[in-house]
Amino acid sequence: MKRVTVGICGLGTVGAGTLALLQRNAADIADRAGCQIEIGRLGVRGDRPDVETGTIPVSRDVMAVADDPEIDILVELIGGTDTALALVRRALANGKHVVTANKALIAEFGNELFHSAAEAGVSLSYEAAVAGGIPVIKALREGLSANRIQWLAGIINGTGNFILTEMRDRGRDFAEVLAEAQALGYAEADPTFDVEGIDAAHKLVILAAIAFGMPLQFDKVYTEGITGIETVDVGYAEQLGYRIKHLGIARRTEQGIELRVHPTLIPAKRLLANVNGVKNAVLVEGDAVGPTLYYGAGAGAEPTASAVVADVIDLARNLARGQGSAVPMLGVQPEAIESRPILPMEDVRTAWYLRMTAEDKPGVLSDVASICSRAGVSIEALIQKEPAEGQTRVPVIILTNRTREGELNRVAREIEALDSIEGQITRIRVEALDG
Ligand code: NDP
Ligand code: HSE
Repeated sequence: MKRVTVGICGLGTVGAGTLALLQRNAADIADRAGCQIEIGRLGVRGDRPDVETGTIPVSRDVMAVADDPEIDILVELIGGTDTALALVRRALANGKHVVTANKALIAEFGNELFHSAAEAGVSLSYEAAVAGGIPVIKALREGLSANRIQWLAGIINGTGNFILTEMRDRGRDFAEVLAEAQALGYAEADPTFDVEGIDAAHKLVILAAIAFGMPLQFDKVYTEGITGIETVDVGYAEQLGYRIKHLGIARRTEQGIELRVHPTLIPAKRLLANVNGVKNAVLVEGDAVGPTLYYGAGAGAEPTASAVVADVIDLARNLARGQGSAVPMLGVQPEAIESRPILPMEDVRTAWYLRMTAEDKPGVLSDVASICSRAGVSIEALIQKEPAEGQTRVPVIILTNRTREGELNRVAREIEALDSIEGQITRIRVEALDG
């Protein structure tokens, strides 16, 4: 049987999971790949006495893996865009195929790296970079390749979904749940990437590039995290029949592509509303197939390793047959990738959840309703609570119809300027996810 040699750089959560999976399922993997997959070298900066590396040669300098002539496929599991970028550039320049789980690297440097890979006649594979173990890149690039993708929406950060689920179901504290996500290996090295939506933005950019055949444009994504979500809004959303989820949304419109990551109210009956814990799910609407949903573990050692090793197997199959991959790295042929305008947020149309604190006196609601009505914003639902004992102010919650964001901003400013309204309005976008 032929032999393909892999070098693994980084032996943290995903690196250790990848090594364990390649070793444990070696016989099945060889049957599927049509060749033996040998681990030829590890690039490991510090000691990992808890990981069994046997007789595999270990280099303290990861660049030694990129320079090792025996290595066919370099697996980059370091993370970040410093050493990882230099390492991947060097591996590609040395004619090695690369597999990575690094969404920051692909989202920010993918245009350059895919070009370099194509020039060198090798592949840069990144299934694990989006939605952990869910094979959504393969689904988009291959399974849905007959479709014109209209939109996609996903829960694409496991840490964030884990935190929101624990806060809602168990009333747990944000910081405590984040610490648990870190201990479980779900979070990024810098967890602000998870909670401020940057990680989800990296992933959304990758999905959108494949779905719409456009270059990766990380700087164009509108990004809002989950740190501003208050328990009180989770409760009101439930009363209105909604759940708050942190979504990445990419949509094709006549005016441009929507690219946005933010907390979103979605109807509680939708499948996405019931994706809990570290699970991720991506809903994709294709013109021929309609909606399809991809669900599974979005983070963690072996779920992520499952996607990394699947990429290794794909490459090994090609190497064993002496052929390159027929699947373009971004799903469309490089010469067909086309820049598309990104829709400014003020032109995006969504429905809105608005929570305001109002004086408990006659006429306040009618003032708010008149401002909305003059702007053509219709109120779909309204909750007004009784004032608490000794209080003169009450929370008022409104669900609006779909409105252009620029117009909603104007309406919100006008309402906030009313004497009877205290402070700022809490605003969360609402999506029906039905077309
Ligand atoms: P970890 O922090 O657990 O592991 C990273 C490893 O890389 C550590 O062993 C670290 O060594 C090593 N490393 C960092 N910098 C260097 C360097 N300059 N030279 C050599 N080694 C270095 O991260 P994860 O395993 O969680 O993540 C790895 C990649 O996978 C990231 O890109 C991440 O975004 C991605 N990913 C992670 C998922 C997860 O669930 N954890 C899921 C999907 C993708 P040291 O210990 O000495 O710092
Ligand atoms: N930190 C990421 C998450 C890892 O929580 O989703 C998977 O990409």
